[in-house]
Amino acid sequence: MAVLKILVYPDPRLARVSQAVTVFDKELCKFVDDLEATMRAGPGGVGIAASQVDVLQRIVIVDVSSKPKISSHGRLVLVNPQIVVSEGSLVGREGCMSVPDYTGNVVRARTIQVVAQDEFGERQEYLCEGYEARAVQHEIDHLDGLLFLDRLVSRRRDLFRRKT
Ligand code: NI
Repeated sequence: MAVLKILVYPDPRLARVSQAVTVFDKELCKFVDDLEATMRAGPGGVGIAASQVDVLQRIVIVDVSSKPKISSHGRLVLVNPQIVVSEGSLVGREGCMSVPDYTGNVVRARTIQVVAQDEFGERQEYLCEGYEARAVQHEIDHLDGLLFLDRLVSRRRDLFRRKT
């Protein structure tokens, strides 16, 4: 497995829209392994999108199981993910491996139903809540070229510099 290089804001490549995955082969599985290694190498990495390592394919990985006291599915590999139902809204703090110096408050749906394929091309469906739902929404945004910075209600009030 390899740890891949993460694009960092304001790199304009982060704003590109990713394409659907159509080929499910060994190469895809190897890339998913590398993407997961890259996520786990980052401090507090709970999610990553392929576009963050300059691969424009609709692939994200989320694993929030390291956070205490929340329910989750563990490791989620979402290929061609689609949010088919979203309910409620919740403000919460987000960070991003591509925006290392800041966190921000973002409004997200509280509960989502996601349909996706796994790395083998099998259709999967997940009901996600709270922090896991937030992470999935954040990562899917990356596939559409959006960062949490694009979702802040106010840059002045909702953006926070990380303590170094
Ligand atoms: Ni991110």
